[in-house]
Amino acid sequence: MAKTDFLTLNSLSPPALFKVLERAHALKNSYHAREFSQTLKQHVLAMIFEKSSTRTRVSFEAGMTQLGGSAIFLSPTDTQLGRGEPLEDTARVLSEMVSAVMIRTDDHNKLERFAEAATIPVINGLSDSCHPCQLLADVQTMQERFGDVRNLRVAWIGDGNNVCHSYLEAANIFEFNLTVAVPSSYKPAPEWVEKANGRVTFVDSPEDAVKGAQVVTTDVWTSMGQENEIQDRLRAFNGYQITPALLDSAAKDVCFLHCLPAHKGEEISDNLFADSRTNSVWSQAGNRLHAQKALLEHLING
Ligand code: CP
Ligand code: NVA
Repeated sequence: MAKTDFLTLNSLSPPALFKVLERAHALKNSYHAREFSQTLKQHVLAMIFEKSSTRTRVSFEAGMTQLGGSAIFLSPTDTQLGRGEPLEDTARVLSEMVSAVMIRTDDHNKLERFAEAATIPVINGLSDSCHPCQLLADVQTMQERFGDVRNLRVAWIGDGNNVCHSYLEAANIFEFNLTVAVPSSYKPAPEWVEKANGRVTFVDSPEDAVKGAQVVTTDVWTSMGQENEIQDRLRAFNGYQITPALLDSAAKDVCFLHCLPAHKGEEISDNLFADSRTNSVWSQAGNRLHAQKALLEHLING
């Protein structure tokens, strides 16, 4: 049977994504009832992290354990990858030993090369291009809040980065309307804008983006690996901070989301998380666990 990778949201068909999310809701209910199924018993996930992580690492590892399997954390510096063993050889070796591989990398091309050489599913745990696992959790959170997400008004404020790219892809798949306010030099890449298939509108200011929005979301201004650009970025994103006052012009029942980690005083004001309109941020993080458990079942068990 051909394996399926999850390198972007479009790696799965829309019906498969909806099925994964349906299962994610069921797995969340089971988790809260302390009922654990052993659907991935004896299966092992290898996780290669070229960059730091809290949520992605813990959710994948806890998820595998809760489904009866296990996960192995691999850092490039402690493996032969760091000493020059080719990615393709590593992919073939791991394919002989584990059921799936999750990779967090600064170069999306590495994910594609790894997936091409591997005979087991490969999952994108964040690349410089996109963060599809994050969007599974975000859409799960929107479904919890609003039920049907079709035609939902979602505002993205800040950097047109990897997470923004996955929002653009998600807008087309899940049929929500995305309004984006980003500084002109930090726009999302055109090939990702195309993926929104007309479901995106660009506006000039955060105020315009937030007006009437039911979901407002943002991400750090300086992503991992861009630390040497921080001063330029602080200047460029001045005025793009999410504050309680900004949320006042959104819809009354607005739900604020943030993939986290958040940099208080930069993309969000120091006091933002004291505002109840941001409460979903914590279940959004928790949904990484449930959504990825459903994804792992789908990719490993079919
Ligand atoms: N949102 C997210 O991917 O968080 P981590 O960097 O902690 O994994
Ligand atoms: N855009 C951020 C997301 C972190 C989860 C980064 O790439 O660092």
